[in-house]
Amino acid sequence: MTTVGVLRETALRERRVALTPDGVARLRRGGEFRVLVEAGAGRPAWFDDRAYAEAGAEIGSRHQVYDESDVLVVVRPPDDVAAMPPGRILIGLLDPLGDPALTELLAGQGVTAISLDLLPRTLSRAQPMDALTSQANVAGYKAALLAAEAYGGFFPMLVTAAGTTRPAQVLVLGAGVAGLQALATARRLGALVTGFDVREAARADIASTGAAVLDLGTGQSSDDGSGRQLGSGQSSDDGYARQLGDDQAARQLAALTEAVPRFDVVITTAKVPGGRSPLLVSDEALAAMKPGSVVIDLGGNVAGAAADTRTVTDHGVTVIGAPNLASTVPVAASTAYARNVVAVVGGLMPEGRLPSDSTDEVLAAVLVTHEGEVVHPRLRVQNEPDHQEETR
Ligand code: NAI
Repeated sequence: MTTVGVLRETALRERRVALTPDGVARLRRGGEFRVLVEAGAGRPAWFDDRAYAEAGAEIGSRHQVYDESDVLVVVRPPDDVAAMPPGRILIGLLDPLGDPALTELLAGQGVTAISLDLLPRTLSRAQPMDALTSQANVAGYKAALLAAEAYGGFFPMLVTAAGTTRPAQVLVLGAGVAGLQALATARRLGALVTGFDVREAARADIASTGAAVLDLGTGQSSDDGSGRQLGSGQSSDDGYARQLGDDQAARQLAALTEAVPRFDVVITTAKVPGGRSPLLVSDEALAAMKPGSVVIDLGGNVAGAAADTRTVTDHGVTVIGAPNLASTVPVAASTAYARNVVAVVGGLMPEGRLPSDSTDEVLAAVLVTHEGEVVHPRLRVQNEPDHQEETR
């Protein structure tokens, strides 16, 4: 029987847990898995040890979980990888593109690492495993609530005996999973919502939430000479946004610096996988916003915003850096993540172990280290000394 170990998260302010009691029950249904949970692992997400035991898990110390598990499940990388015995399979959001040193460490420990950040999201078989989507959805929802809380006015238009209030104007920049959920949630709260994204396909997605689409109307041709406007078609074959060229990025920033001050609330979620997050809200835009306005930065797109920090500018604009909002809704985020983990374990390890001669395209995409080596093609290139020298 394969033992799946659930570790307590060690990252600062991380409140999620990789497997909930519901996830334990689902995993044990087939009879191939034993589940061993580190004592207190679920407590920050309000799942106590008794609930795990009732779902059929055993509870043990961290040492015992490391010692007895074949598979270890986490949300984020543990801070004691050096204590991990060789041969273990580690599953989590390990951010191997952002943290190559951790990848090397895992390979050195002889750990087989599976990183859910690398999942091929458009394959229908991978969709139940898609932890980036499940967590971005939670983060987008919370971003709208956080904005409503920090904003000094109402989101909806209210007609009362004391008069009529105008609805808040909310702009969401980046309309992927998080941005679309932020738009939908802000709209449910009664705000007037507008969205923007560089991908052409996102226009229809924005409209489907009932939001207006921001047209930057720069009317200038793009760097590649295609004549496309910003916001019309800047995506690669895999459906993700491309990094804009310097010239395009500068034009986008200038146009947004004009547009942003018209809004009461701005939520930014723009990312480019494996690349730098674009700057979308400049110091100049912040300075031109009305006092009392709120900016929530999920994507790393706002000048001067710092992670997990709320600052108020000299003239009264609240800026909140919020890169890990999913962790602040730990029950919903952990429940969704646990479903993803159950799908990964069930889908990639059909008989409780990884197939030895796999041609599984999902497994090939997420397998980062195996038998002491960094095996993922993108990471092998990244870790080669020549490449590191070039990118310095
Ligand atoms: P993400 O978190 O990587 O980025 C968020 C958004 O920022 C994206 O929509 C991106 O286009 C946008 N962005 C990047 N640079 C920008 C800029 N300079 N200005 C404005 N916006 C910018 O994206 P996420 O949410 O992970 O999803 C990205 C894509 O993956 C979308 O096409 C989405 O539909 C697709 N997807 C497909 C799934 C499926 O087929 N099952 C599941 C999840 C996502």
